[in-house]
Formats: sequence, C-alpha cells, structure tokens
Amino acid sequence: MTRDTYFITTPIYYVNDKPHIGHAYTSIAADVLARWKRLEGKRVFFLTGTDEHGQKVEKAAREAGEAPKPFTDRVSQAFRELTGVIGLSNDDFIRTTEERHYAACQALWRRLVAAGDIYLGHYEGWYAVRDEAFYGPDELTEREGVKYAPSGAPVEWVREPSYFFRLSRWLPELLRRYDLPEGDPERISIAPETRKNEVVAFIRQGLKEFGEGSPKLDLSVSRTSFRWGVPVPGDPDHVMYVWLDALTNYITAAGYPSDPERFAAFWPADLHMVGKDILRFHAIYWPAFLMSAGIAPPRRVFAHGWWTNEGQKISKSLGNVIDPLDLVQRFGLDPVRYFLLREVPFGQDGDFSRKALIARNNGELADTLGNLANRVLSLIQRTCEGRLPEGRPTEAAAALLEPALLAADPRARAIGARKLEELPAVLTAYLDAQDFSGALALVFALVRGGNEYVTQRAPWALRRTDPAEMAAVLRDLHSALRCYATVLQPFMPGTMARLLDQLGVPAEARHFAALAAPLPAGTPLPPPSPLFAKLEDSA
Ligand code: MSP
Repeated sequence: MTRDTYFITTPIYYVNDKPHIGHAYTSIAADVLARWKRLEGKRVFFLTGTDEHGQKVEKAAREAGEAPKPFTDRVSQAFRELTGVIGLSNDDFIRTTEERHYAACQALWRRLVAAGDIYLGHYEGWYAVRDEAFYGPDELTEREGVKYAPSGAPVEWVREPSYFFRLSRWLPELLRRYDLPEGDPERISIAPETRKNEVVAFIRQGLKEFGEGSPKLDLSVSRTSFRWGVPVPGDPDHVMYVWLDALTNYITAAGYPSDPERFAAFWPADLHMVGKDILRFHAIYWPAFLMSAGIAPPRRVFAHGWWTNEGQKISKSLGNVIDPLDLVQRFGLDPVRYFLLREVPFGQDGDFSRKALIARNNGELADTLGNLANRVLSLIQRTCEGRLPEGRPTEAAAALLEPALLAADPRARAIGARKLEELPAVLTAYLDAQDFSGALALVFALVRGGNEYVTQRAPWALRRTDPAEMAAVLRDLHSALRCYATVLQPFMPGTMARLLDQLGVPAEARHFAALAAPLPAGTPLPPPSPLFAKLEDSA
C-alpha cells in the first residue's frame, strides 16, 4: 500500500539554548529524505519547529532574566534562521506556544480521558529537568551526594499531584506492533535494529518487574509545580507534561483536529527522525498516546547516533559545542551536508573532525565529482562548440554503471537494476532504510568509474581518429553526470543546481522520472566553472 504523500519530521528543538551541530544533523538528514521523496514525485510534508514549554525552558528564561514568552520568541527565531543556514526545505515550522497547538493538545487529552486512560494520582519520584524525564531509583548513580540519570543529568525528588496515563495498558500492543512483518499497515517500524532491541528489552523488563497492567508502569503526564505549559482541560491547576505536549506537535501540524481532510492525507507520519537519546519517547509513549486516542501511530521511527568533537564528548562545560553557522561559513554548506551524511553510517555515533571533513571535500567532492564534471564539460565546450553532442548507441553508459552496481551492490541486485536510469530506484532502497552513507558510497563509486572511463577512452585523442565516437563517449558521460547530479540534489542542493545548469538540464527536468527523456542534441551548455573549492586546514 503506497500513498502519494510522505510526512517526515525532525524533533522539535528545545529553546533553552542556541542551535548546535546535533540539531543541524537531525534536520539535514530529514531534509535529504524530504527532497528525495519530492524528486520521486510524492506530495511531501516536511516539518520542523521548536519545543517551548516545560521546566527546562522556563529555567533558561529565568536565568536569562526574561519572561518565558519573549525568551522563547527570541530563541525560537534562532532555530528558524538555522533552517535557512543549513538549507532546509521544510514546509512548516511549528512552535508549541502557538494557538493551533494548544487546541490539538487539549483535543488529544480529552480523547485520552474518554478512553479511560487518564486518572488522578500523586507522583513521587526522581525527575531530571535537563531531560524532562522521570527515572526509577534503579536507573540512578550517585556522586558527591548528587544523583544522576543514565544520561548524566542530575535528578531531583518531586512530589506533587499528577494525572497519570495508563501506559501499562498499551505495552503488550506495542510489542505486537513492533514485530509485525514489513508492509503490515499496523506495524511500527523502529530502526536501527539494535535500537529496536533496546526498546523491546526496556518494555519487557518493566512488564517482568511489575507485571502486566501494573500502575507502576503508568506515566505521569501533568505537573502542578510550575505554570509554563498547556493547561489540562478542566483542571487548570495542572499543565501537561512537556513530552505529551511536544510529541503532539506532529499531529497539530498535520491538521489535527481542525483539518480532518489534510490530516487523513498525511497522517500517520511516514518517519520520525530522532536522536538515540529521545527514542523511548517516540517509540513507546507517543504511539501509546495515539493508540489510546484512536489515532494511528507513526509508521517508522529512526534513531541516529551522536557526534563527538575531535574525539571529545560535546558539552557546554567543555566549551567545544559546534555552531552550525560557523561550520557553514568556514567550509561551505554543501561540503558540510555531504560530510555529515557520508562520514558515519547513519545510526552509529561518529566523530567530527576538521581533517576528515577536508579530506572528504578535497578527495571526493573536488577531485572526483568536480574533476569529472570539469573534464567532460570542458571537452564538450572545446570540441563540440559548447553544444550537447548527438548520441548513438554505445555500451558506454552501461559500462560506467554495471561493474559497480551489478557486481558489488546488494540493493541493486535485489531489484534487478542494470541501467544508469535505474539508479534512483536503487538509491531509494538505501534511503528508505536511512542508509545515507551507503547511498553516497555507491554514487561516488560510480563517479570514480566515470573518471576511469574518461581516462580509458581518451576522447581528446578520438577527436582526430573517430570524431563520431568521441561525440558518443562525451554524450554518455554527459548522461551519466546528469544522473549523478540528479540523485545528489537532495544532499547538495545548491551545488547540484549549478551542475545541472552547466549540464543544460532545465529546471522542470530535474526529477527522477525525467531521466528517462534524454536532452535534445544541440542543447547549448554554458561554459563550465569549478563546483567545489579545495579546502585547507587553517585551524
Ligand atoms: N525537545 C526535545 C525533542 C522533542 S520532539 C517531540 C529535544 N530537543 S533537543 O533540542 O534536545 O534536540 C534534540 C535533538 O538533537 C535530538 O535528536 C538529539 O539526538 C540531537 N542531538 C543533540 N546533541 C547531539 C549530538 N552531539 N550529536 C547528534 N545529535 C545530537 O530533545
């Protein structure tokens, strides 16, 4: 069952501090998928935004000497500006302090009440403001009289009246849904597999310890000790737990409850892209709230890993937080986007190092892709009067593609892909698995093949001996470059737009299906200019 819509989200970011590389990473990964699905021809809804309630944000406002509202207005604006800096193609930017979001939270709350899944009680236990999360005593460690959560956040003892959500009721159903076969409409897919196993183990452990249906497994979903949140309908002494409020953003933006038609078109979300630290909220609490409310849970949640900086954990106290704006100013946007998705297999932790970024830029972008484009386009300029040469059947394009694709690539073999035009389909298989680095490795293997092909066929020499063969070789290389540029657009939108300009590909012929229609011979090509600058390490 495939829909023509695709709904993808980033987490909404806490506005307690300015944006850093972790935010940029999740957002760029989601952006690549959103752009990919648009090129496939889907109607995409790509959502990002800011998470503005809760104790953590309230505390940050207090420390800045501001009231929460003007504080969140200011910091949220920095995240809105980040979307431009890192080239996001988001269709909406939601703030949890918006009216539409209050309406959605309160509507959802009423559905949970109607389902009999909300009851009033007393919460007594440990809370980490930094994580906005409750922890059990067994999860904590103690150092110098302070107790810490596994995330390293200090916890404090909380005792207050609270509404509870009957999470216990939904745990067996969650386990059932995680295990449904691929393609089952009820399946909740959690990836990578190792993270899914952690989620399952966490639920199983709870069920074993307390027994199915135990109130000990329920979740405190309201607070009375501070005011900065969405009021609980019918009991204004309580504000909603910030994670219930925050997660609801995904349905608010999809049109819940005010626009049922739009909501039906886009919900359930196809993919929630999150970091590994917030998987539990997205894979357990969120689907449980939704199922209780009679709303379909998301189809898939993918948890990516964390970056360190030159081998060190990134933290404010170490003063090594990476500012995405600095990175983009220093290295350029597309090299940064490329590096983040190429360097580390998505899902694993990775180390950010300037040296590694420069090596990728110089070795792969400038010397491999930039070089191929420059060689081919300069030759066409010089030998074909700057016009796209006539093609004629050669085995050239197949020769560029087949060795790498067919011999070595399991995903290509799985779908029986043989031709260059089938590259988007092969890469779709990678991207549907969120394997960005695998997709890029394959494309660059092909680009290397292209360079070897130029060297072997030496079109500049054919100019004298067999001009028609030279034209055919250049034409094949042009088609190959067009294909590489088309599939690389989501990763490096600015530079690939320039390459497609240089290749003479009109704006309306840059989606995947357009690859089936060759450009007419004689299409004028502008004089080429270098795509990527070589970078130096100037510390
Ligand atoms: N507000 C919550 C999310 C609510 S979603 C309904 C939140 N916000 S956050 O501002 O802390 O941003 C979290 C995102 O940044 C997470 O996906 C997290 O994994 C990511 N990262 C934060 N530091 C990171 C690294 N050092 N490396 C990679 N990603 C990291 O959580």
